[in-house]
Amino acid sequence: MLPRTRAPVVALAAAVLGLIGLLGLSLWLGLKPLLQDQHLPVIIGGPFSLTNHRGERITEKTFLGKPTLYFFGFTHCPEVCPTSLMEMTGLLKELGPDANRINAVFVSLDPERDTKTLIATYLESFDSRIVGATGSAEEIADIARKFRVYYRKVEEGENYTIDHTATIYVMDREGGLAALIDYKEDQASALRKIKRLL
Ligand code: NI
Repeated sequence: MLPRTRAPVVALAAAVLGLIGLLGLSLWLGLKPLLQDQHLPVIIGGPFSLTNHRGERITEKTFLGKPTLYFFGFTHCPEVCPTSLMEMTGLLKELGPDANRINAVFVSLDPERDTKTLIATYLESFDSRIVGATGSAEEIADIARKFRVYYRKVEEGENYTIDHTATIYVMDREGGLAALIDYKEDQASALRKIKRLL
């Protein structure tokens, strides 16, 4: 037994400690979900070095200063790429004079077959403002990794095809990701995403 005089002090100390403990616990329980939800920001984009369809060296800096649409694909693509590039062409047409205030880039994921000449010929079917880009296998792998673009060669032989991400990346003037346009997304919705940046 404690001496009578010290009992209230011990009781008070115990109460204070208990309160601190409860506060700590509730704080921890409150923070825990926040800490668990705290994902590291995914950075999309970044430095790259490629060759355009005219044979000129281009980097991410080439397109800074204007919002830029990036689409990744390959010229032998039977459906997804022609559809997306037609949609990109439609977006540029709908933007009217504002289309000159943005860049549009088609990056090949097939450096093996897509020479600058082939890309130049391919792009004749679409808006002439779309810039084609290709590079070495390493340069393409590098930009694909930075944009989190999935691509994988399927089938063997020379008639191989490539599974790939069909998203259009909308980057702001500083080269940061501003929006994504889905494959076959409604044109009005896609236009809103671009116009916000003008
Ligand atoms: Ni494609």
